[in-house]
Amino acid sequence: MTAAAESRRSPQAGALKYLVYSSVATRTMLPADLESILFTARRENLKAGITGLLLYRGTSFVQFLEGPPDEIDALMDRISVDDRHSRLQVLMVERVDQRSFEDWRMGFGIPKHTQPTGIDGVRDSFTDLTRGTDYDLVRQAAQDFSIWFKIKQRAIPS
Ligand SMILES: Cc1cc2nc3c(=O)[nH]c(=O)nc-3n(C[C@H](O)[C@H](O)[C@H](O)COP(=O)(O)O)c2cc1C
Repeated sequence: MTAAAESRRSPQAGALKYLVYSSVATRTMLPADLESILFTARRENLKAGITGLLLYRGTSFVQFLEGPPDEIDALMDRISVDDRHSRLQVLMVERVDQRSFEDWRMGFGIPKHTQPTGIDGVRDSFTDLTRGTDYDLVRQAAQDFSIWFKIKQRAIPS
């Protein structure tokens, strides 16, 4: 197979970096604080080709980021020195072909529950994610959250 045919067959194999991290807010985030983070994120992520989802509950953040590897690395350099949060822990890094949050430069959600539902594929909590480093759990949670977020978006009347 020629290189051109190969690239047509899998045009962007592993071209994107998918990273999930958790962190702890250094103070209670007010709506204005979250708005400010999201405003910057959406503006900058559009330029950088980054999409994802930011979750916040209590004092914990979990953020899912996907985009060109160099852009994700540059963003993580900025995020990791941001004094609005600390104890940043990378839970998952993978190369992927497809985006899970393609419609969202940075979606935002506040999961309702503090504990997992216990039903496979249904997730409204990230407490267990921030506790450990079980890679499969994080990968599954990432998938579940992308579905959770899509359903939540559809449920909002336009
Ligand atoms: C929890 C959290 C998530 C963030 N997510 C993003 C993001 O997705 N994109 C982004 O550009 N900035 C994000 N930021 C803001 C960056 O940390 C940083 O303040 C911003 O990119 C501006 O960087 P600069 O001050 O070096 O210009 C986030 C900050 C926090 C606390």
